Amino acid sequence: MVMNTKPRLFESIGVIGTGKMGTALIKGLLKEKLVKPDQIIAYDISNEYLMALVEETNINAALNNQQVVEQSNIVFICVKPQVFETTLQKLQTAFTRDHLVISIAAGVPLATIERLTGNARCIRIMPNMPFQIGEGAAGYSLGTRNDNRDSEIVEIVFGSLGKVFHFPEYLLDAVTGLSGTGPAYVFVFIEALADGGVLAGLPRREALILSAQTVMGAAKLLLEQNVHPGVLKDAIMSPGGTTASALQLMEARGFRSILIDAVEAATKKSQYLGQNTLSYSDHLV
Ligand SMILES: NC(=O)c1ccc[n+]([C@@H]2O[C@H](COP(=O)([O-])OP(=O)(O)OC[C@H]3O[C@@H](n4cnc5c(N)ncnc54)[C@H](OP(=O)(O)O)[C@@H]3O)[C@@H](O)[C@H]2O)c1
Repeated sequence: MVMNTKPRLFESIGVIGTGKMGTALIKGLLKEKLVKPDQIIAYDISNEYLMALVEETNINAALNNQQVVEQSNIVFICVKPQVFETTLQKLQTAFTRDHLVISIAAGVPLATIERLTGNARCIRIMPNMPFQIGEGAAGYSLGTRNDNRDSEIVEIVFGSLGKVFHFPEYLLDAVTGLSGTGPAYVFVFIEALADGGVLAGLPRREALILSAQTVMGAAKLLLEQNVHPGVLKDAIMSPGGTTASALQLMEARGFRSILIDAVEAATKKSQYLGQNTLSYSDHLV
């Protein structure tokens, strides 16, 4: 007999903010069958987004954030960092020690999350967009009031939605710079690769699929074989061949250092935004 060992969550789930990430999270949880739709209650200030999501997924819509908190054990905070404080300030008295609050807001420190949520146990996590298809990459930090079940929950949720690692909080800016923001770099890479294919004569649609599949296949091979990327690169690069010519040009134009600098720039921006009062003109992730 085949045993179903897939983890499940029995806690009730609340989601505050059902924009891009809140929606992706809910869809990911349902796709991975971690929870049933009636275990989730969500609220968004934009009724249109919320209702479209409710219609699509059969989750429960709350009338306000207060109701989300009152009817959930685990509350995901998925609003923009700029409105984080004003959103949670109104809810402080609704949170109790029985709540686990998981914030995905970039740059909002655990100290702020704990200050705004009464005695709730808090976790700060930096996920990324592909978690909606179970291929996310995330780093998280625990607050000062967590118990062992809290780490278990965050590992179950984000482990089911991709890969997740525990870090000291100061490293979450680096996680933001690498994997939080990273899918955008990869989309640019895929688009540019396809443009190269089109320049070389391929039709656009096929060029895009070949490009995306190449990125996915290479990443999957690396993760499955668990070897250094240089080993796989060497296996493709034959003496005097096409790969060697392409890599010579990429090295000459600084391809590696552009990526290293990009991650560093995003990390620094995340550090800066986390240390300063945010306004609507500041954009995170
Ligand atoms: N996008 C990414 O790839 C990514 C990656 C990692 C982490 N994050 C973090 O994820 C969080 C959400 O980002 P996002 O891209 O999903 O933003 P988003 O699409 O703007 O979603 C946020 C949603 O929250 C709603 N909202 C605003 N105030 C609210 C309130 N008081 N109560 C309930 N809902 C409220 C917004 O409505 P209005 O639009 O009407 O204001 C919007 O629908 C951010 O903190 C970001 O730092 C994002």
